[in-house]
Amino acid sequence: MDSWPIAIAGLFLILVAYFSLDVMGFLSWGNKFPVDGLTVLLTGASQGMGIEVAKLLAQRGANVILVARNLGKLQSAMEETKAAAKDPATQRFHVISADVTIESENARLLKEATSWNDGVVPQVVWANAGSSTPGLFLDCKIETLRSQMDMNYWAATYLAHHTMKAWLYPETPYKPQKKGSIPEPPRHLVFTSSILAFANVTGYSAYSPAKAAMRSLCDGLRMEINLYNGARRGTNNKNGHQPAPFDVVIQSVFPATVLSPGHANEQLTKPAVTKKIEESDVDQSPHDAALGAIKGLEAGNYSTATSFLGDLMRLSAMGGAPRDNIVKDTMGQWLTSWIWLFLGPDWERTVWNWGKTKGMEEYRPNSI
Ligand SMILES: *[C@@H]1O[C@H](CO)[C@@H](O)[C@H](O)[C@H]1NC(C)=O
Ligand SMILES: *[C@@H]1O[C@H](CO)[C@@H](O)[C@H](O)[C@H]1NC(C)=O
Repeated sequence: MDSWPIAIAGLFLILVAYFSLDVMGFLSWGNKFPVDGLTVLLTGASQGMGIEVAKLLAQRGANVILVARNLGKLQSAMEETKAAAKDPATQRFHVISADVTIESENARLLKEATSWNDGVVPQVVWANAGSSTPGLFLDCKIETLRSQMDMNYWAATYLAHHTMKAWLYPETPYKPQKKGSIPEPPRHLVFTSSILAFANVTGYSAYSPAKAAMRSLCDGLRMEINLYNGARRGTNNKNGHQPAPFDVVIQSVFPATVLSPGHANEQLTKPAVTKKIEESDVDQSPHDAALGAIKGLEAGNYSTATSFLGDLMRLSAMGGAPRDNIVKDTMGQWLTSWIWLFLGPDWERTVWNWGKTKGMEEYRPNSI
């Protein structure tokens, strides 16, 4: 008898079983992002997704240091965070007002956070600050193109640089670990990117490139950190540097449209044609975006899109990024490349027809 049909049916059944187990959450064992008793440093913490992340981490037992510019908003965000704490008697909370687009501010806030945390560099550092100023490219001031890069790329880069230095080459060098000592929890560096790091849409030519650069940085660091994690297991520390007694894990999360105060601001300058393209988007509440992000981190995923549509974008733009699930991510990458056959031309046609029926927009140079 020909065994082909049986082999194909068997393969099909295995795939179905695999997907079902994955959807039911049976394929990731244990929490890979335990924060109970650890300290989290979170930027962009005063509103939107940031404050929801702070609350969810407090619920999970973390001490949280909230960073943003506006001290008043920070203080009320801290009160909300405190109210969500798992154990208000032992958990601690702190605020630092800082402009993270300034390099030296990142050094200062990390120092302040460390001394507040009894000399221990926070174990989780989450570069969450960011904001988008949408607009047609020709309406944007060059200054806006630059400040979008400062806010959405450089701020995270400065923080990553200072944090990794503090973790891996501390001022007081690490001592060799005694055999059998309790392993330290891994350190987590998390970036909040955006699904606009995967796709480019009219109206986001100031924001998208910055988030794409951030994604590229994260992919690069993810590879580079292997050097330090490897050195920790190695035997050759002849050049005098004692490796840190913990692993460093680098991850990103990619929210889509989040109904935050930042989003309300965006709507003010967003071109009408951009709104048209976004019509079919499913908006997320800040809480849902934050919860999706944390669930992804808890599953140990390297990249987490917080919505279904965002996940399709992530799959279609994976490139060489680590697969969080070999079957889903490999097949998903292939399948979503078919979706772009329709979606790409559809977006292009929308913009073309906009120009054709409504003519050129009024020229408003330097208005954004
Ligand atoms: C849009 O941006 C992403 C990320 O930078 C890139 O990989 C992609 O090829 C770009 N173009 C299109 C048409 O998606
Ligand atoms: C982690 O990633 C895998 C692969 O893409 C996905 O199937 C799974 O749902 C993700 N888990 C969470 C909690 O986001």
